[in-house]
Amino acid sequence: MNSRINFNRHLLHPWADLPSLGEDEATPLITRGEGVYVYNDQGRKFLDGPGGMWCMQVGYGRKEIAEAISRQALELSYASAFSVMHPKEIELATRIAKVTPGDLNRIFFTTGGSTAVDSALRLCQLANNIKGQRNRKHILCREQGYHGSTFLAASVTGKERDKSLLDTEKDLVHFLTSPLLSADPLERSEQDFCDFLIEELEETIREIGPENVMCFIAEPVLGSGGVVVPPKDYNRRAWEVVKANGIIYIADEVVTGFGRLGHWFVSQEIYGVQPDIITFAKGVTSGYLPLGGFAVSDSFVSEISHDRADGNLFSSGFTWSANPICCAAALASWDILKRENILEHVKEIGPYFQKQLKTLEEHELVREVRGIGLMAAVELQAPDKISGESLLDRDYTLGDLVDRHCYALGLMVRPLINICILSPPLVITFEQVDELIEKLRAGIQAAHIELGESY
Ligand SMILES: Cc1ncc(COP(=O)(O)O)c(C=O)c1O
Repeated sequence: MNSRINFNRHLLHPWADLPSLGEDEATPLITRGEGVYVYNDQGRKFLDGPGGMWCMQVGYGRKEIAEAISRQALELSYASAFSVMHPKEIELATRIAKVTPGDLNRIFFTTGGSTAVDSALRLCQLANNIKGQRNRKHILCREQGYHGSTFLAASVTGKERDKSLLDTEKDLVHFLTSPLLSADPLERSEQDFCDFLIEELEETIREIGPENVMCFIAEPVLGSGGVVVPPKDYNRRAWEVVKANGIIYIADEVVTGFGRLGHWFVSQEIYGVQPDIITFAKGVTSGYLPLGGFAVSDSFVSEISHDRADGNLFSSGFTWSANPICCAAALASWDILKRENILEHVKEIGPYFQKQLKTLEEHELVREVRGIGLMAAVELQAPDKISGESLLDRDYTLGDLVDRHCYALGLMVRPLINICILSPPLVITFEQVDELIEKLRAGIQAAHIELGESY
């Protein structure tokens, strides 16, 4: 595989496997992208299954975005949000406020998803301190939730694999059961499982004391934890419990925002939830430049501003907050999403994508296919035949095998252990969905053969 090189001489990549540092020959060298495809240094073409990392909404190589970035760089390359405003951030904030539900009208820009989550949590801390509710420090979140890689965002992340020796805040963070029905050890019905999750939430709040709970943070559909679509009514019922206890509800829409499920944001439109804060990132610029942020409700802000501010500042922000070039990229991506009716396209192609993917469940190596819109997970199961290894090692072996075969066939999957995450660019066509699924099927089949199983 001569397009793969040892990158570890000078790079330390996210989630670097430390035991094998410097020995990884399996990372592709990607040099170009166009539409839903990326190309390696040998010119080979790959369909981008994960869509970068859930972020390539309008696809690669958009001249319009490149030109907007270039124009903005020449016009005004930098403006410190600490002391000035610029037209692009005003325009972008106005557009975001229009598509967020209810009175989520005030936009705080950050540099990505982790900084959005971190800043939102810090605003909640500040708000409670200003309001004299200084005991409200506890945070509720879920197993399998992913919220980022800064200290606080990582602390509320509940992915088993990511619990390493990295320090996190533990005393104030409470993990609730992941709403993944198929993982319920008691194999309850969807309704019973949902009842259990809601009772667990109520019970946890009771145990901590509602007056001590700051917020509940939740992705409407858990993404990096393996595309967990919660049971029907779970999001709405959880929100109702949270609000009945005077707790702040943060919807982390870093993945689900900006069209992945066919809506700008899904909290209200799909799940009937009116959050106090919605975080966003990734798709806001279609992955062209780093940008994130959160929208917070007017009613939230009115409780801690003007006469009620008690002289306080929201002393939080970044050198790159609301960077003009990043905002220009976001506006250009937005224009494309609108002009090409991409949200409607997702509503149309999403069900087809899910239905076709579901056919992979016929394969012995596939445990479950789940998803919604243009986000899906194909969870693989290693046959017992891979012997002499721990369960986790077997899953890694299988994930690596499928990845290798798909790559050879021209499809990027890059599994999370044994879960192939699929979130292709939103502009994917019906033919390209077929191509993706046939390559994935062939990759799984080739992995099966290599494992020595008969099909
Ligand atoms: C739901 C969610 N929140 C937050 C983040 C963190 O975003 P970033 O990697 O831009 O810091 C991610 C990243 O995958 C995410 O999926």
